[in-house]
Amino acid sequence: MAPIAIEPIIVASTPSSKIAPSITSKGTAMDAISDMVDEVNVYRGTHPSAPQPSDCDDDETWRTEGSRFDSEKDKTDFRRYEDALDHVKAFYKTQHEKQTVAFNIAARERFLHNHHASMTVWEAIEKLDTLVDESDPDTSLSQIQHLLQTAEAMRRDGKPDWMQLTGLIHDLGKLLCFFGADGQWDVVGDTFVVGCAPEGTVYPHTFANNPDSRDQRYNTKYGIYQPNCGLRNVMLSFGHDEYLYEIAKRESTLPQAALDMIRYHSFYPWHREGAYRHLCDAEDEKALENVLAFNPYDLYSKSDSPPDAKELRPYYEGLIEKYFGGKDRKIQW
Ligand SMILES: [Fe+2]
Ligand SMILES: [Fe+2]
Repeated sequence: MAPIAIEPIIVASTPSSKIAPSITSKGTAMDAISDMVDEVNVYRGTHPSAPQPSDCDDDETWRTEGSRFDSEKDKTDFRRYEDALDHVKAFYKTQHEKQTVAFNIAARERFLHNHHASMTVWEAIEKLDTLVDESDPDTSLSQIQHLLQTAEAMRRDGKPDWMQLTGLIHDLGKLLCFFGADGQWDVVGDTFVVGCAPEGTVYPHTFANNPDSRDQRYNTKYGIYQPNCGLRNVMLSFGHDEYLYEIAKRESTLPQAALDMIRYHSFYPWHREGAYRHLCDAEDEKALENVLAFNPYDLYSKSDSPPDAKELRPYYEGLIEKYFGGKDRKIQW
């Protein structure tokens, strides 16, 4: 596939900013679904059965100290969850019916083995920021605001610079929306393991019409996998996590903990519900701690006041310089 030429990007810095219609309509819908998925996960994070980070005997305080920025926040906003429920149900019904083994093999070939664009990391952030939910501009945050809020909350809590950068870029995989994704269902939403019976997902009955649920190769507890084979050897449903993980692994020097945070941040069945432990090995225990250290910043920083992208850009370009080999270096997306 030929690379897409990316034009210089105008950041949608005000609600009245005009965006190309083809981007606006697709982005608005995806952004709205993404926000609603996150609202459900805020609720899920308050569920009494949600596992807590296990004790860790090393001295890596970024992992063990937990988040402080959200200590005063109300995490029990049930009304929003109920309001979002119908839309989220419809979204997950589609996702759960279409994310098959065959689709995932094809998606990896299509998105990971083809070149879609050349952009610096900051250009990619600005490109993603054109996905503004214009239907409610006064209350919805743009993508760049969510990325900066996630990173800034980590910065305020004294987390290391690589983790701040991970917060800044963690949703850049949503650029799939510009690279020919089939719909919202293969970009956003919680992920799960394909190739075996689903576990710990929301709306589990919506897998009934997934062809893999009737295929005995894929519908058992282990499916195509061996016991405790390690999550690196299983195929997670394709979306923005998996796509950005591959980009960050190839294009950056971010540590493994950062790659774990990126790859598994939407894998709520695993990191919130305790599912798929029979597929995990010792490496995954560390990865789980890494993802749990990241998760509060993604979920609970959204209510913070909007950050000033122009003011913050030089600081974060310094981090991009450090971990992506130059702030002006074109990344192959
Ligand atoms: Fe995400
Ligand atoms: Fe996010």
